[in-house]
Amino acid sequence: METVLSGIRSTGNLHLGNYFGAIKNFIKMQYEHNCYFFIADYHSLTTHPTPADLHSNVKQVLTEYLAAGLDPEKATIYVQSDLPEIAELYLLLNMNAYIGELERTTSFKDKVRKQPENVNAGLLTYPVLMAADIIIHHASKVPVGKDQEQNLEMARKFAKRFNHMYKIKYFTEPQAFNFNEELVKIPGLDGTGKMGKSDGNGIYLADSDKAIRKKVMRAVTDSGPSEPNSAFTEPISNLFALMNVVSEQSTIEHFKNSYAECSIRYGDLKKQLAEDIIKFVSPIRARIEDISHNDEYLSKVAKMGAEKARVNASKTIKEVREIIGFRKFY
Ligand code: TYM
Repeated sequence: METVLSGIRSTGNLHLGNYFGAIKNFIKMQYEHNCYFFIADYHSLTTHPTPADLHSNVKQVLTEYLAAGLDPEKATIYVQSDLPEIAELYLLLNMNAYIGELERTTSFKDKVRKQPENVNAGLLTYPVLMAADIIIHHASKVPVGKDQEQNLEMARKFAKRFNHMYKIKYFTEPQAFNFNEELVKIPGLDGTGKMGKSDGNGIYLADSDKAIRKKVMRAVTDSGPSEPNSAFTEPISNLFALMNVVSEQSTIEHFKNSYAECSIRYGDLKKQLAEDIIKFVSPIRARIEDISHNDEYLSKVAKMGAEKARVNASKTIKEVREIIGFRKFY
């Protein structure tokens, strides 16, 4: 049995990228492995939420995890800030994380470009906190999307460095994981790049039918194939990538053939894609609606998860303190 862990930042509602990049794989694994899934609310502080938003975002994400199919009886589901042990491990790992390597990560460079007015130290050390999240539970498999590949590489580096420094095989080196081998990248609707919370190009699990139809019908396309069997341009390849996760194989074949024959009508493809997304999302959305009114259930889940996760985390911290050389006088 392996230890599996994943998490999502609580900076907004969950979108299809989160579902197909992380949650879907995790759901399959929760019945067979020792699984942890958490809400990264410390990480959400890098974008400075107000106190009221912070809590309501965490509540929303917890609701959506459960609605999507995470099972609190099988997996340990918890809120990151309920485990102060993670913050302690983050502090300790920071002593062996170097500014140069942190500045070179693509996600940091992206943030510097996108939010130059708020380049805080939390952003710089984001991969260290993420490593602490993972190695505190000695997780070996981390189901994530393609965008997290580099963060996992950093987590391995910090685990290995600790082991090397203290000449002990203590931390496990975690691997990014997907059943189909290749990590998933779900594209957005704007013709380029991945679906993301902050890019305004996403479809959320809580979106209404109307919102989904509107977003999909507005998705960027091109002027159509100019000759038979031409390659997809990026916006069209993106629409097919979305179809790949929500539509029937026969539907995908139908539109691929009509593209190859230059008879495709993007309006028809988008209508079909919107209906297939709605079909996928609507049962999850109904459960979100139900669970969001059940505060008692949400507190029970969060409490149970925190208690279980803390047992493990505090054992790790106790051992790490010993390895590093902290000794009590009393
Ligand atoms: P976050 O909140 O940006 O995304 C959460 C998960 O969703 C995946 N994902 C995608 N997968 C495919 N296509 C997309 N367009 C897409 N967008 C998001 C991400 O790969 C991720 O798996 N740093 C993490 C949160 C985190 C974490 C961790 C994850 C903190 N500590 C420890 C795993 C282990 C993040 O910001 O993900």
